[in-house]
This record gives sequence, structure tokens and C-alpha cells, in this order.
Amino acid sequence: MALRPDDALLAPSILSADFARLGESLAMLESAGAGVVHVDVMDGRFVPNITLGMPVVAALRKCTRLPLDCHLMIVEPSRYAVAFVEAGADWVSVHQEADPHLHRTLDAIRKAGAKAGVVLNPGTPVETLTDLVGDFDFVLLMSVNPGFGGQSFIPRVLDKVVRLDALRTQRQAPFLIQVDGGVSLNNAADLVRAGADCLVAGNAVFKAGDPTDAIHGLQAAMRQGRA
Ligand code: DX5
Ligand code: ZN
Repeated sequence: MALRPDDALLAPSILSADFARLGESLAMLESAGAGVVHVDVMDGRFVPNITLGMPVVAALRKCTRLPLDCHLMIVEPSRYAVAFVEAGADWVSVHQEADPHLHRTLDAIRKAGAKAGVVLNPGTPVETLTDLVGDFDFVLLMSVNPGFGGQSFIPRVLDKVVRLDALRTQRQAPFLIQVDGGVSLNNAADLVRAGADCLVAGNAVFKAGDPTDAIHGLQAAMRQGRA
């Protein structure tokens, strides 16, 4: 069984894009060859920032064929996870720290037709996932404290990627490993080498002089990590 997809995926985060021009940003991401669009949903309670909800996801859905990856940084995610799938999300991830009934929420996301992911904050060990293997399609490891774009990468997440990759091999479970926060040319190859399959990048794409070039540069670094 192939435990990792053939190509590493880059998931630009529209949190760093111009919110008044999201349609143009999606067209740019599509023509640049981004794999997935990362959509950060924040509620001002689980994290100290507020972003967007289901109506915006529904509007994004009309503008692109790329998979929409909704990262829910909200309290009580079980109340809204399926509504995000109905709005057009293809991937939905839920923070372990926000949900005491993750097994049920992941199952509901899958039954609604999306890939179900678990997100771990920097301080939450990967070992807390051992009894959920098989119930999620991907794990998102935060490499910053969630809430804002443009923060510095926390290098200790590299060791978490290695440990999660070992768990995946040991259990023969084909889930994806995604990393989010402070991803740049300084760490993309190392993260993929450690076992990551999908890297989220906000500022490294949208604050670059040429976002298309930035996407291609990050993808080249990811391929280098695979080689
Ligand atoms: C942070 C968000 C990230 C953010 C990443 O809470 O989950 O997805 O957009 O932005 P950068 O890549 O700028 O750290
Ligand atoms: Zn995110």
C-alpha cells in the first residue's frame, strides 16, 4: 500500500490574500498549479482572531475547481463541520484540543463526503492520535500557535512529523501529513524529507513579489525533499 501520494501538495492559505479579491487569487492559484486551497476559519474564541464562515466558503466554491481545505479554528467544531462540507469544503480539519468527541465528528465529516482531518497545536503530542488511526484521512500539525499568518516556524514540529510518519508506517495507515505555519523556502524541503505530504503557506505565497513564482519555488523545494 502506498502510504504517501506520488506528489507533495502545496496548499496556499488565502488568509494572507486580499479578501476583496479572492476570486482573482483563486484563479492565480489554479493557473500556478497549487494542489489545494487552505481556508482558515477562526471564531475569536478558540483563537483570538475572526475570519470567515460558510457563506464565504460557498462563494469560493463557485470560483474554483481546486479542493477547498477548511481548517476550523473554532470551539465546538462538531456543530459546524458538516455545514462546511455542505458549503463546498473537500477537506475539513478539526482541532483535537477543541473537540472531546473527535471520533464522532470525523465520522460525520466523512459521511458528508469530505476528507476528515485532525489538527494538533504545537503543544499536543502526536501520540494522542494512536487510538484514532483509521478514523482520519489527514493530520495537520501546527508549526505556529494558530490565529495569525506571518508567524515564525517552530522547528520542533520536524520531530513531530518524523514521529507521525513512523506511526503511519507502523500501522500501515495511508493518511496524509500536513504542516501549517511559517512554511517557507527555509524549511519546505526539510519538512517533506521528514515525511510531510502537504504544506500550507500563507505569507510565503501571498506576500511574495510574484506569488506564482513563490508557488513554483516552494513546489521545487518540496520535490527536492522527496528526492
Ligand atoms: C494560522 C493559520 C495558517 C496561516 C499560515 O493560524 O492556520 O494557515 O494562514 O500563514 P503563514 O504561512 O503566513 O504562517
Ligand atoms: Zn491553517
